[in-house]
Amino acid sequence: MKSRLLVIEDDPATLQLMKQVFDSADMEVILEADGSSAERIVATQHPNAAIIDITLPGRSGLEILKAIKGVDSGIAVIMTSGHSSTQYAIEAMKSGAYDYLTKPLDIPRLRQVVAKALECNLLSRKVLYAKAVETEKIDDGSTDIMIGSSPEMIEIWKMVGKVAPTDATVLIQGESGTGKELLARAIYNNSRRMNRPFMAVNCAAIPENLLESELFGHEKGAFTDAHSRRIGKFEQCNGATLFLDEIGEMSLANQGKLLRVLESQSFERVGGNETIKVDVRIIAATNKSLVNAVKDKSFRSDLFYRLRVVSFFLPPLRDRIEDMPHLVNYFARRFALKYGKKNGGIATEALEMMLSQKWEGNIRELKNVIDSATVMSKGELLMPEDIAPFVSTQEPAQRQLSGATADNGNYYAIFRNLLEPVFDRICQTDKGTVFDNINSGLEKALVEMAMQKGNNNQVFASKLLGISRNTLRDRLERFNISGE
Ligand SMILES: Nc1ncnc2c1ncn2[C@@H]1O[C@H](COP(=O)(O)OP(=O)(O)OP(=O)(O)O)[C@@H](O)[C@H]1O
Ligand SMILES: [Mg+2]
Repeated sequence: MKSRLLVIEDDPATLQLMKQVFDSADMEVILEADGSSAERIVATQHPNAAIIDITLPGRSGLEILKAIKGVDSGIAVIMTSGHSSTQYAIEAMKSGAYDYLTKPLDIPRLRQVVAKALECNLLSRKVLYAKAVETEKIDDGSTDIMIGSSPEMIEIWKMVGKVAPTDATVLIQGESGTGKELLARAIYNNSRRMNRPFMAVNCAAIPENLLESELFGHEKGAFTDAHSRRIGKFEQCNGATLFLDEIGEMSLANQGKLLRVLESQSFERVGGNETIKVDVRIIAATNKSLVNAVKDKSFRSDLFYRLRVVSFFLPPLRDRIEDMPHLVNYFARRFALKYGKKNGGIATEALEMMLSQKWEGNIRELKNVIDSATVMSKGELLMPEDIAPFVSTQEPAQRQLSGATADNGNYYAIFRNLLEPVFDRICQTDKGTVFDNINSGLEKALVEMAMQKGNNNQVFASKLLGISRNTLRDRLERFNISGE
C-alpha cells in the first residue's frame, strides 16, 4: 500500500522541493500552504506522517500538530523550524511530535527521519500526547533562559520534551559551567510538578553527617545538637522536585539511603524508627565521571544504574561553537539592560573578535566575561577594545581529558579518557553506527596527519603508518584527502 505524507509549509519553494524528494511509487505527497484544512485531511485521507513548519501565517504549526493529533494520535509528525528558540523543540516533543528538525533542511537526514517515522506509524506506536502548553517565555532579561540551537542542544531539547512530563529520575552530566542546573530547571519548568517547589541541595557543600539530616531530617536527641525534630528536604519536597547537585560527592552511606528512596519512596529520619513515605522527583547532576567513581568504588554501581536510566550529557561549549554568537548576543543584551544601557549589545567587530578566539571556557566563563566587559565599557555597545582584555586572559575550563597524553603507547587509556565524557552523546546521535563512525574518523585523522608530516609523500606516509600503498590510496580516496 502507498504511504501518504502531508506537508504543511508556507514557502512555495520548500513545498515543491518536498514533492520532488518524496513523491514516488511508494509515497503520495499532499501539499498544503497553510493549516486551515489539516484536521479534515487527516480525518479523510489518513496520512501516515506529516512534515509541518512551525511558523505559518494563521495557525501556528504547534497548534496544527495538537489539532491533528486529536484526530489521529498515531500520525507521525515531523516539525520543522527556522527559529533557534529552544522552547519550540521542547513544546513540539511534548505535544507528541515524532521529531524536530531545524532549517535549512538537511535532505538526506529528512529522508531518514521520514522513513523511520513511517515505520513507527505502521507499527502504530503511539507517541506521547499533547499536554497543556505554556506560551513561550519572553526574554525581558529578568529570567534565566537557556540558549542553544546547535544539533547537540536540539537533541537535548527534544529529550527534555519527552522526559520532563514524566516523573522519571534524571541524571545530568557535564563539565562545570555547562548549564546543568539551568537544564534541571528547564526539566522542572516543563514538568507536571512545576506548580510545586523546586529545591536544590549541593551535596559537595555540606559535610556528610549534616547532609544526611539535611536530606532525611532527624528526631530530637538523635545526636548531641539535635535539640528538636527536624524535617528534611525529602519531606519538604513531597509532591515536588529535588535537585541533588554534585551527587558524585555523596558519601556511600547517604547513597544507600538515597537508593532506598528511589526504589521504595521511603526512608527513616536520623535517629527515628518511623518509616516515612514520600513522592519526590529527583534530578541529579554531576561534573565528575560517575563511571570512574563506580570503578574506584566511591560511588555505588546500583545507584549509578538506577540514576542513569534517563541521562543527559551537556557538551562543553567548545564542542558546540555554533551556539557562541547566540549566547554572546544574549548575554550582551542582558547585561546591558542590567547596567542601564537601554540600547546596549555587542558591536559586530567585537562579536567577531570573540568568535575568532579559541574558546576554552564554558558558558559560565562566557557570561562572566560579558558581564565584566559591560561594566567596564563606556558606551552602549560593547566594542573590540572592551572585549580584548578579557579574551586573552580567560582561564581554561576544567578539562576532563587530563589522561589524554600520548604516554607509553597506552592508546587504550588515551581513547577511553577521550571518549568517556562524550560517549553518551555519541550514542544519542550515532546510534547503530558508533563503531563505524569512530573508526573511520580515527583512520581519516591518522592518514591526514601522516600525509602532512611527509609533505604528501605516499611512500613516507604508508611506511610511517605501517600500511600498504594500496590501502593508503584507498583511504585517501575514501576520505577525500588530497594526495598531491
Ligand atoms: N545554554 C545556556 N544559555 C544561557 N545561559 C546559560 C546556559 N548554560 C548555562 N548558562 C549560565 O551559565 C552559568 C552556569 O550554569 P549552571 O550553573 O547551570 O552550570 P553547571 O553545569 O551547574 O555548573 P557547575 O558544575 O559549576 O555547578 C549560569 O549563570 C547559567 O545561567
Ligand atoms: Mg551546578
